[in-house]
Amino acid sequence: MSRTIMIVDDEPMITTTLATLIRLMMKQDVSVFNDPREALRSELLLAGDIDLILSDFLMPGMNGVEFLRRAKELSPNAIAVMLTGYADKENAIRSINEVGLYYYIEKPWDNASLVRILQNGLEKRDMEEREKHQRQELEVSNDKIIRLYERLQQDYSTERKQAVGILSLLADAVEAHDQYSIGHVYRVSSFCRLIGQKMDLSPERLETLFIAGELHDIGKVATSDLILTKPGKLTQEEFEIMKRHSAEGEKLLKPLASLKECLDPIRHHHEKLDGSGYPDGLKGDGISLESRILSVVDIFDALHTTRPYRGKLSMEQARGILSEECERGQLDAEVVDVLFSVLDSGEADAILALMR
Ligand SMILES: [Fe+2]
Repeated sequence: MSRTIMIVDDEPMITTTLATLIRLMMKQDVSVFNDPREALRSELLLAGDIDLILSDFLMPGMNGVEFLRRAKELSPNAIAVMLTGYADKENAIRSINEVGLYYYIEKPWDNASLVRILQNGLEKRDMEEREKHQRQELEVSNDKIIRLYERLQQDYSTERKQAVGILSLLADAVEAHDQYSIGHVYRVSSFCRLIGQKMDLSPERLETLFIAGELHDIGKVATSDLILTKPGKLTQEEFEIMKRHSAEGEKLLKPLASLKECLDPIRHHHEKLDGSGYPDGLKGDGISLESRILSVVDIFDALHTTRPYRGKLSMEQARGILSEECERGQLDAEVVDVLFSVLDSGEADAILALMR
């Protein structure tokens, strides 16, 4: 690729010699000026089309340092090389930092060394340009990735809303089969949100918990109404069938990528910290906080509402049973404490009013 080198020296003999040398030995374009002020008005320089500037140090009207400083303001990517007499060497060295000088060449110069220095300077310029392009390409691809991610997030969120909308209808239909459980899902998801907020869950985890609350019993769609609405105690065999609903719920929702975070609390909302729960008999830390919250809330709602096999337990009785389960190491004591505190503070009154 042909590059353009600007030569600035007040002595025409020198510029002519250098221009000839560069054209012959380096096969590069040359732009020659004998007055630095004129060079600063050069269209090539203003357009950023000068790749390397070779400037004399001592020139009438403007010295080489001042000229290169202004030239670099106009064309910051140009490589600056100074030609200097031995007496000016100290000044040239001082200007290395001031104008970002790439090299200084002492007069009289050796042709071969001068060409090598200029070639190295042009290679540096090539390298800087390549890096700049790579950076720009990287920025463009980063922007693309960010836009794609945002788009996916939007699609994801829309898909999730649609899925939850449809599945909530199914959950309502499951509830409608059992008059005693009507409103259970609404109350459980509302309690989950309240407790999750008190426990400082992130907005994403809160949303997951709320949706899991809405859909936690959706697997009951596969459970017989005879078992769901049986007025008396379930037989062992019936209970085993009933227990399948949490894993069935997970199975039902598994194909929906947008609900993948909800699968864990749905599958595990009947686990107990001591390992006595189902379906996996998980213990302690193996049970997520979302599952623990859902579990406490689900039990509380069942206790404090009328069931097919018994009447509604009083608040005192319900709280007593939760406390006992905590003491037995089955429920998360911190979650139960938070539930009690929202019950005491009146924050849950609107939900409690729906419990019959
Ligand atoms: Fe359940």
